[in-house]
Amino acid sequence: MSISELEQLDVATIREDFPILSRTVRDGRPLVYLDSGATSQKPRRVLDAEREFYERHNAAVHRGAHQLAEEATDAYEMARETIASFIGADTGEVVFTKNATEGINLVAYAMSNAATADEDLRRFQVGPGDEIVVTEMEHHANLVPWQQLCQRTGARLRWFPVTEEGRLDLSEMGELINERTRVVALIHQSNVLGTVNPVAEITARAREVGALVVLDACQSVPHMPVDVADLDVDFLTFSGHKMLGPSGIGVLWGRRELLEAMPPFITGGSMIGVVHMEYSTWAEPPQRFEAGVPMAAQAVGLAAACDYLTEVGMDRVAAHEHALTEYALKHVGAVEGVRIVGPTEAVDRGGAVSFVVDDIHPHDLGQVLDDKGVEVRVGHHCAWPMHRKLGIVASTRASFYLYNTLEDVDALVEAIKAAQTFFGTRGS
Ligand code: ALA
Repeated sequence: MSISELEQLDVATIREDFPILSRTVRDGRPLVYLDSGATSQKPRRVLDAEREFYERHNAAVHRGAHQLAEEATDAYEMARETIASFIGADTGEVVFTKNATEGINLVAYAMSNAATADEDLRRFQVGPGDEIVVTEMEHHANLVPWQQLCQRTGARLRWFPVTEEGRLDLSEMGELINERTRVVALIHQSNVLGTVNPVAEITARAREVGALVVLDACQSVPHMPVDVADLDVDFLTFSGHKMLGPSGIGVLWGRRELLEAMPPFITGGSMIGVVHMEYSTWAEPPQRFEAGVPMAAQAVGLAAACDYLTEVGMDRVAAHEHALTEYALKHVGAVEGVRIVGPTEAVDRGGAVSFVVDDIHPHDLGQVLDDKGVEVRVGHHCAWPMHRKLGIVASTRASFYLYNTLEDVDALVEAIKAAQTFFGTRGS
């Protein structure tokens, strides 16, 4: 997409919907928010939806026979319908969790719970001799739960390596995913490199050996059209707060037949069939996986975020971010002493642009950028093994969303140059 087509998204009007974007930071500087990969800002419509829920309908959902309980339950279940439709799913396949991390843990712990169950849960059982495959570019949220599952069950953890360019090395895929593989868990779009992984190719191989595919879609669902039917994976997770919604809510989507067969992770109220002193049975999904009073206002807020994104159009959001990414790769990458971490071309690549600057530690750089009002993330971005593999201790990441402009990227470039001048490394 060309820069002129970028204008098709009316960013100025969109920005007016986000109250926080008009504030200033650090001695009155305009806010240049380039940290949406960590969390996105929220449009007024989402804030209003949550407030309206609390002001008019608040009650514990799926409990109580009074009017407020009925309204709250309706609002919660209607939110589920909207969110399911946003990803092309059936409503009953959408489980609300605290965030994507909890969604991944839910699957890993359900498998752990299945390990000691009867043969009828064989589909979810892993043990000695079995293998779980991840990638070297995983966020810790999609690595540590699988490490832990392997430690608890005796299964072996294996992974796709990352190339220097920041792509997955698929050359050994035929051996890596084999008849011992029970799960393949991977990130859709890297939160550091921006790389969009070849999910279809990997899933096709997983299908050949009967492995389950778990997709961490935290950085894809907010930024591109995602349809679970097209992806053909088994489980997919994402977080509300990264897609204009509230914090405290995430989604685990799972194939209906898998959710129906899978044992629960967190047990307690509202996820039961019947309860006796000696034993209990489970509700059908999604309730089976939603123990306790759920986050109703947050579900309503996330549904409002989905409506907002749908009205803007996810194709246009993706195209806008693609143009910003191309522009950033060109202009940030052109600063002397800056090296992009990850693919340097905007092909199969989303809007997380990480980089290192010669002789300036990312934490020091982040402070100078912050002084200029430019808010980025610095560190290993919860992808420590990948940084280690690429031979860097940390990086600086700018991440974009529908409310960012080319001027935001220009401000970033100027702030990097100012930092180089400040630390005496410019032109050195
Ligand atoms: N996962 C979030 C990030 O990449 C927090 O910044």
